[in-house]
Amino acid sequence: MCGIVAYLGKKEAFPILIKGLQRLEYRGYDSAGVALFNGDLHVYKKKGKVQDLLDFTDEKNTDGTIGIGHTRWATHGKPDDLNAHPHTSSNGRLVLVHNGIIENYATLKAALEKLGHTFKSQTDTEVLVHLIEELQEREGLPIGEAVRLALTKVIGAYAIVVMDRKDPNTLVAARKQSPLVVGIGRDEFLLASDATPIIEHTKQVIYLNDSEIAVVRRNGSYEIRNIMENQIQDPFIQQLELEIEALEKGGFDYFMLKEIHEQPKTIADCMRGRMNADEGWIRLGGLEEYTNRLVNAQRLLIVACGTSWHAGLVAEYLFEELARIPVEVEYASEFRYRNPVITDKDVVIAISQSGETADTLAAIELAKEYGALVYGIVNSVGSSIARTSHAGSYIHAGPEIGVASTKAFTGQVTLLTMMALSLGFKRGYIPKSRMQLLLRELEQVPQKIEQVLKVNEQCRYISSEIKDFHNALYLGRGFNFPVALEGALKLKEISYIHAEGYPAAEMKHGPIALIDENMPVIVICTNKSAYEKIVSNIQEVKARKGQVIAIVNEGDTHIRSMADYVIEIPDTDELFTPLLSVIPLQLLSYHIAVMRGCNVDQPRNLAKSVTVE
Ligand code: F6R
Repeated sequence: MCGIVAYLGKKEAFPILIKGLQRLEYRGYDSAGVALFNGDLHVYKKKGKVQDLLDFTDEKNTDGTIGIGHTRWATHGKPDDLNAHPHTSSNGRLVLVHNGIIENYATLKAALEKLGHTFKSQTDTEVLVHLIEELQEREGLPIGEAVRLALTKVIGAYAIVVMDRKDPNTLVAARKQSPLVVGIGRDEFLLASDATPIIEHTKQVIYLNDSEIAVVRRNGSYEIRNIMENQIQDPFIQQLELEIEALEKGGFDYFMLKEIHEQPKTIADCMRGRMNADEGWIRLGGLEEYTNRLVNAQRLLIVACGTSWHAGLVAEYLFEELARIPVEVEYASEFRYRNPVITDKDVVIAISQSGETADTLAAIELAKEYGALVYGIVNSVGSSIARTSHAGSYIHAGPEIGVASTKAFTGQVTLLTMMALSLGFKRGYIPKSRMQLLLRELEQVPQKIEQVLKVNEQCRYISSEIKDFHNALYLGRGFNFPVALEGALKLKEISYIHAEGYPAAEMKHGPIALIDENMPVIVICTNKSAYEKIVSNIQEVKARKGQVIAIVNEGDTHIRSMADYVIEIPDTDELFTPLLSVIPLQLLSYHIAVMRGCNVDQPRNLAKSVTVE
């Protein structure tokens, strides 16, 4: 939700800011803006994408070796030029970019208005820059101290960068609940919401901790303090492992398509070095230290949002089946506000691609208060959830840039499958011989996904046949019920077609009323245990003239004889079918969205990283 980037050094700031904003556009694309100082302060902002800003600044003065930039996902105030960041103080001295929400902005605004401040925008952010100005002017403070003092009066979430035209050799950045990374280059600093705008310039970074403020200076010096106590912190400088190729489309039309095709590799990366089929073991680095706590947990609570929540639902089936441990899967946003019963014998698993989802972070804090062990399953290295969990494992899927999550889902399911197998083994429910067999099969999954990807052309054809319908139904059972939910979410978010996912047998309790010749029904029929039941569900749909698109195991001629379209996937153990069955659903939604002329990677109203409630 909003991306921020800033540069201070010897190079021209503008191209660095623009490229950085383009990398951060997945965080929001309602408006974009930059402020540059080159003797004069220039602020350019425009509703729309970074490209609109670039067109707007054509032929304008964009010189300067210091600057800040922002790409917005609107919360307070509609997306327009006026509400776009950076925001400027009334004396025109300070400019500020912000990601987050200032919750007490109305109170602060009223107080500032009494002191004579007038506001141009409807944003919460503008209040903050006026507050800093007020303290700076009244107390005669240097910019770093004025920002720090202002933040002690703020309630809410923020990552900010502030530039002062009277001190063009300094940038001030701070964070609370929204991410901010400081890149330390040779004679230069970069500040950004994540490492992607930084990687080309330096690999040395500091991930600011919550409630920290950083002051960076042109002479190469910097300091980090905590906001409330004003004490100097000793920062941990990390070496980035990210490669630039991971941030580019690599010949694909969209990041989403690239990311779908990366899945054989990302799943192999997720498993690499963590298991040995011949010896029948799984070792998840982050788990070893807490083995006893997990093995003896009385319950697992899984908290997540969106696609990550769907991965959690798959895990519920896996943990209960393999490790015989009770599991509850919760939307993080509900969990945090409903006084849940949590004990210190529970283990809370938080799942998140970005590692920055505000609701999931808040659920983690709540679980920690009750003494539960929190285990994070995260993709984004160094993210807030990764750092705030007691223990955890990365899924190693690499940057996911398409707003619709694909490879992160299969990475999360792979990691959770390994966790469930490990726990099942340690709790004595999986004998070694079965463990070896299951691991051998799991090892085959990347290769089998490679095979599933060959249905791409067939999915394109089916998409051309169903792209104009207004609704779709996705059905699955058991392990594949969450996959049906995920398929429906993928279609909704990128093609704007209304879709619902249901457990197949639940259809007759309501949704069947919707079925007629205009309703495509995508049915996942790869389950062995409930095969006959799914066949009956297909017949129920056909009897009402619905169009059936069936995902079946290779060689299934029975369902072929009744479905309108059949997509075959290789056979695997039923436990692992979600990893294969989701791929055609991802491809169908992708092709339908492209054919409907939608922007697949940046669907309307969405942002990749939901850092606000
Ligand atoms: C859907 C999607 C979202 C995210 C959700 C949680 O394609 O991407 O539903 O899954 O916003 O995000 P993370 O996993 O970053 O916590």
